[in-house]
Amino acid sequence: MTIIECGLGGDNDRRERMTQQYEVEIKVCDDEEELAGAAADLFVERSEQALRRRGRFLVALSGGATPRRLYELLASPAYCDRVDWKRTEVFWVDERCVPPDHPDSNYRIANELLLSKVPLEEKQIHRIRGEEEPELAAKVYGIEVSAYMPKSLITFDLAVLGLGIDGHTASLFPGDPAVSETEKVAVVVEPRGQQHGRITVTLPVLNHVATALFLVTGSEKATTVREILDEGNPKCYPAGLVMPVKFPLPLAYDLDERAPPLAVLEITSLKTDFIPRIRPIFGRQPAWLLGF
Ligand code: 6PG
Repeated sequence: MTIIECGLGGDNDRRERMTQQYEVEIKVCDDEEELAGAAADLFVERSEQALRRRGRFLVALSGGATPRRLYELLASPAYCDRVDWKRTEVFWVDERCVPPDHPDSNYRIANELLLSKVPLEEKQIHRIRGEEEPELAAKVYGIEVSAYMPKSLITFDLAVLGLGIDGHTASLFPGDPAVSETEKVAVVVEPRGQQHGRITVTLPVLNHVATALFLVTGSEKATTVREILDEGNPKCYPAGLVMPVKFPLPLAYDLDERAPPLAVLEITSLKTDFIPRIRPIFGRQPAWLLGF
């Protein structure tokens, strides 16, 4: 999978051009219902855009509690028919090393709330096989992901991401060697203090999605968000390193269609005083569309 080339290197002129093409969008929501609705609308919009661009929609889902309402909403009559599920391929950004019917399985949650309720065939669901030997499962998943995007600099059309208080996203935890991975699509991590090992996609994959959608609720995460987006803050969180960039894309992508590659964040406690500023990292702008 050729996903590194334009990401972390390149001359300054090229970086500058990429930065100029980049847009960040922030949306603030009043409650979790509004957040889920905004995310579902964005899901529909990005799926339509992907179908126009490459004839199918590749989406990667997260675990955690925050996206659950989004999954329910997408399966509801209000949204179900607005997504062309027959041309959708579903992946995950991470998974626990547990069987698919385990209470902690990210696949199980998405399947129960969404996938089993919409017209998707089994072959369109590309789960990470948490029940297998982890290194092998990560490798197999990497091959499966790569098979869907062999010639494209774009990996997923949409990655639904969450944020931990410690700044993790997917299963990329602060200080973990997985955060520095530049070659592999997916790696095994053993998060400290957690019951299960995990398999996660890496930053090069997340930095080549068309849209990274961060869903964040809960005032306890406010400080983390503030630190990620505050340009003066020296702390470097894994979530702050997710910066999808619109590249001079080959073939399938239309550069004139300037959809902001971003995310929805919701942190009600920040509403009054939070003014996000853009902090360039590696010469690029972070890819966040916040929902405050
Ligand atoms: C997971 C996730 C993880 C999650 C954050 C936020 O599998 O748990 O991919 O990165 O998104 O921990 O979790 P909450 O939504 O539960 O706060």
